[in-house]
Amino acid sequence: MKAFIRANTRLLPVAGLCDGRGGIRQELLIWQADEITPIWSATEADLAREGLDPPFWAFPWAGGQAVARLILDRPELVRGKRVLDIAAGSGMIAIAAATSGAAEVLANDIDLMCEAATLLNAEANGVTISWRGGDLLQGPPPEVDVILAGDIFYQKQMAERFLDWLGRAAAQDVDVYAGDPGRAYAPLGGSAPIAEYDIETTADLESVTLRRSRVWKL
Ligand SMILES: C[S@@+](CC[C@H](N)C(=O)[O-])C[C@H]1O[C@@H](n2cnc3c(N)ncnc32)[C@H](O)[C@@H]1O
Repeated sequence: MKAFIRANTRLLPVAGLCDGRGGIRQELLIWQADEITPIWSATEADLAREGLDPPFWAFPWAGGQAVARLILDRPELVRGKRVLDIAAGSGMIAIAAATSGAAEVLANDIDLMCEAATLLNAEANGVTISWRGGDLLQGPPPEVDVILAGDIFYQKQMAERFLDWLGRAAAQDVDVYAGDPGRAYAPLGGSAPIAEYDIETTADLESVTLRRSRVWKL
């Protein structure tokens, strides 16, 4: 899987973490699909032939970029704490937490490719991340101080499951932050976000080049 990632993506800075003048605020590198890599133009049928799910791991998603940027801007939210990045994808948020001084960072996703991508990305950024695979939503939240979740509200049933589980974690005094760029099932519109950013995205992926992304503390 790591060889597949290296062959089909490029190690690039996360564009959405640029400062307002186009400079990179904090160099955070992720193996990403872009217009010159084959996976960029692969169809679902191509991916199915390779036995791959849609490559969530190959892009930094706008909701996750907002969470990563919050953590890089306000490292005190995670410094010295045990942090879980759930639905980690590329592991971008986990890497931001490790860079910002979290004591331990655990990342999780149900997709095995995300494990390979997260560990490769952690290596590229010189940080250590632990991995726990499988569907953590089937059990109680693990023993952590902070849970970070980026871009998880794009499917109805998935959004409901996450919201229920994250709500239970928050009720147990875990600090829970969720970032979303206005996906269909984001339920957080009624309460005030703690941060808002215009995140630079890819027009091919999001059909716009800037997306307003918000982070809520549950
Ligand atoms: C849009 S991607 C976001 C990835 C990353 N957080 C980011 O913002 O770049 C959503 C991710 O949720 C993962 N996912 C879906 N259901 C999940 C579950 N029950 N537990 C953990 N991850 C899940 C998918 O595999 C995918 O990697």
